[in-house]
Amino acid sequence: MNLGLKDRVAFVAGASSGLGLAIATELAREGCRVALCSRNEARITAAAKAVREAAGVDQNRLLPLVCDVTDEAQIESSLRRTAEHFGGLNILVTNAGGPPAGFIDDFDADQWRKGIELNLISTINLCRHALPHLRRAAEVDDALARILMVTSVSAKQPVPNLYLSNTARAGVQGFAKSLAEELGPTGITVNTVLPGYTRTERLGELADAIEARSGKTKEEIEAGWSESTALKRLGEPEEFAAAVTFLASARAAYITGIAFPVEGGRVKHLL
Ligand SMILES: NC(=O)c1ccc[n+]([C@@H]2O[C@H](COP(=O)([O-])OP(=O)(O)OC[C@H]3O[C@@H](n4cnc5c(N)ncnc54)[C@H](OP(=O)(O)O)[C@@H]3O)[C@@H](O)[C@H]2O)c1
Repeated sequence: MNLGLKDRVAFVAGASSGLGLAIATELAREGCRVALCSRNEARITAAAKAVREAAGVDQNRLLPLVCDVTDEAQIESSLRRTAEHFGGLNILVTNAGGPPAGFIDDFDADQWRKGIELNLISTINLCRHALPHLRRAAEVDDALARILMVTSVSAKQPVPNLYLSNTARAGVQGFAKSLAEELGPTGITVNTVLPGYTRTERLGELADAIEARSGKTKEEIEAGWSESTALKRLGEPEEFAAAVTFLASARAAYITGIAFPVEGGRVKHLL
């Protein structure tokens, strides 16, 4: 299948490790020119090198950027630099780290605000500042303009100790559905992609938090996560990135407003 991604321009947030890094790699492999960002210059520079090697592409097809997605000014300037550097923007992938694990009594008001800023407000601001560029991309011949939001399976089924994530992801879902409806006539598609338990640094942090609280070993925790899925295993970042890349492609032009789970059959409801 030709995904029609050759020479398209993508911006992938939170891309120095984990899901973002895998998405940047897969998009580069499919021919995109990719801007990738994170907060840490050394990590994002190393990530760009890893993408270059894994995808077998020239350095000039990648643009590593330092951008904290909780800072609106950094978002605006990073997206503007991307569009200036590559001559436009076709694909926005919103993503960031996950908030700390915990229950209702574990967070004060400031921690709640930070969690919402990290996973909801950052998504909104990335979309707001990408939209002028995406609208231009949607108006040309052979147009392709896509928004993909990395959220969590917790948007479908809340995870017991992830209050901050559960709450922010539900907000992202409402925002995405609203945006898909409004942007539909322009041809810009908007979809969320929901990872389940996928082998990344974030998953290691969650296992640490549960280990400290429950006394279970990391191996027991991981085995429990695997057992909760139909496929009886954790996901790999590359499996998640493949789904995002398809939804970013020219072949996904008639898919918008959906929440696409990549979670090995963990959620048990019918639809
Ligand atoms: N892995 C899973 O099983 C799983 C399951 C459900 C949901 N999720 C969600 O999916 C998202 C990605 O998860 P992951 O597993 O890939 O996590 P990860 O391995 O911890 O990677 C997070 C990435 O985001 C970057 N980042 C963190 N805060 C940022 C900020 N404020 N601005 C810009 N970049 C930032 C980090 O880079 P720097 O440190 O270099 O800034 C890193 O590149 C998270 O929201 C997570 O909660 C993951």
